[in-house]
Amino acid sequence: MKFFIDTADVDAIRELHDLGMVDGVTTNPSLILKSGRDIIEVTREICSFVKGPVSAEVVSLKADEMLAEGRKLAAIAPNIAVKVPLTWDGLKACKVLSGEGFMVNVTLCFSANQALIAAKAGATFISPFIGRLDDINLDGLDLIGDIRTIYDNYDFKTQILAASIRTANHVKDCAMIGADVITAPPNVIKALASHVLTDKGLDQFTKDWAKTGQKIL
Ligand code: G3P
Repeated sequence: MKFFIDTADVDAIRELHDLGMVDGVTTNPSLILKSGRDIIEVTREICSFVKGPVSAEVVSLKADEMLAEGRKLAAIAPNIAVKVPLTWDGLKACKVLSGEGFMVNVTLCFSANQALIAAKAGATFISPFIGRLDDINLDGLDLIGDIRTIYDNYDFKTQILAASIRTANHVKDCAMIGADVITAPPNVIKALASHVLTDKGLDQFTKDWAKTGQKIL
């Protein structure tokens, strides 16, 4: 399973990149706002060291304007995945942009039928939002499982990019279901390494080691 980092915070991406944890990056207008950076400038900086897909999202609501924005974003670097919303206009833009050879990430997916139609429109990635479904007492992981079944039934090549990941358990469950990619904020990626028994065990080892009076170095 590939790890994409869901942020436009360049320092946070770099830290994880240096550990080999970054297979790609996803951004959206809210994350660009949070970064306080210009979208073109920050996306270019991310693409200067991340070689996997870097999603940059269009903001227009009409297909023809999405196409113009998508082509401009795609010109930043060859590894840009143009992110379009799961609307009828977004699907039109997806079809054209994927036909032109660009990677397309169809975002804001909340149903299996939306994922099905995005695959028909040639999406490279489909982004189902787990956490936002959980927020309204639906089950985001059920959606990942349904999409996995449908895509496997018909051998669709669209990759399931599980998004709106809020917890380490979301990551584990997506891996169990067989999502192709998860995109998660840096804090969730770091939380994958944490366990209370690791901390407790290390504390005990440190105390016992001190009692030995020995040194390794
Ligand atoms: O990749 C989509 C993601 O940024 C949305 O996450 O936590 O705002 O629902 P969240």
